[in-house]
Amino acid sequence: MSKLSVNHLLGIKEISAEDIEQIFQTADEFKEVINRPIKKVPSLRDITIANLFFENSTRTKLSFELAEKRLSADVINFSAGSSSVKKGETLVDTVNNILAMKVDLVVMRHPNPGAAVFLSKNVDARIVNAGDGSHEHPTQALLDTYSIREKLGTVSGKKVLIVGDILHSRVALSNIFCLQKLGAEVKVCGPQTLIPKYIESLGVQVESDLRKALEWCDVANMLRIQLERQDIRYFPSIREYSMLYGLNKELLDSLSKKIVVMHPGPINRGVEITSDVADSEHAIILNQVENGVAIRMAVLYLLSSGIHQNQNV
Ligand code: CP
Repeated sequence: MSKLSVNHLLGIKEISAEDIEQIFQTADEFKEVINRPIKKVPSLRDITIANLFFENSTRTKLSFELAEKRLSADVINFSAGSSSVKKGETLVDTVNNILAMKVDLVVMRHPNPGAAVFLSKNVDARIVNAGDGSHEHPTQALLDTYSIREKLGTVSGKKVLIVGDILHSRVALSNIFCLQKLGAEVKVCGPQTLIPKYIESLGVQVESDLRKALEWCDVANMLRIQLERQDIRYFPSIREYSMLYGLNKELLDSLSKKIVVMHPGPINRGVEITSDVADSEHAIILNQVENGVAIRMAVLYLLSSGIHQNQNV
């Protein structure tokens, strides 16, 4: 059994607040490790991990690979674009061929919602969801929430605003689950066409006016417009979106209190936030990226427990 209440990290919905706290406490220890001159520990020396990316990624892919190497795991990388998937091989066949090479754990990003759950039921390895379509991106939510805890001391009682394309965002859904499990209040803001109809049933409030929403919050998480997942046009133009829902320095400085600004990346500068906001003292965007490595080390370490009886952790 893993050291969490689950053997796979498929989404935040399935894990408990205790699991999240355990991941954060373990990440605190790994954050100390990765700031040492020698950043490597032998914790996953006998573990082999496959990173399967069926969709583009910069941060998540590099962050997982670095986390695995810092833990001394053996790592293999797979990108769909240069693989036999192009010749028609199925997901299960692809993964089973990789597992035949004695892989213990699979980190997978896939464009289809539910792909990680499907894999966990059809192959004999522990699975970490690195983002499945518009469904969940659990390690992003963990690193976002961990970064809020680090910046503000606690998550409980904090007011977190998520702005933008909520409808297509796996980051939004995973953040909502994670923040609520730790006692934060969550509000969303964006064009009505990009707010899912079920959102209030999750206990999330909706505010259409960005200024009012920003005045309410302690933290604003500004999401990217997911043009690649939009089959139709949900707003008249990028310029209009940016005028109504973009965060610029003038708006930020006019608020009655100082707020923390987050972004999961990749940023479209000048669309969801301007450069002077992204690079300002309000923004913790690069802290999020740094914390991503420690959080992924913690997730991999806790999930890998018990894979080999003689594992030295
Ligand atoms: N935040 C995030 O998932 O970024 P990538 O798509 O670059 O991995």
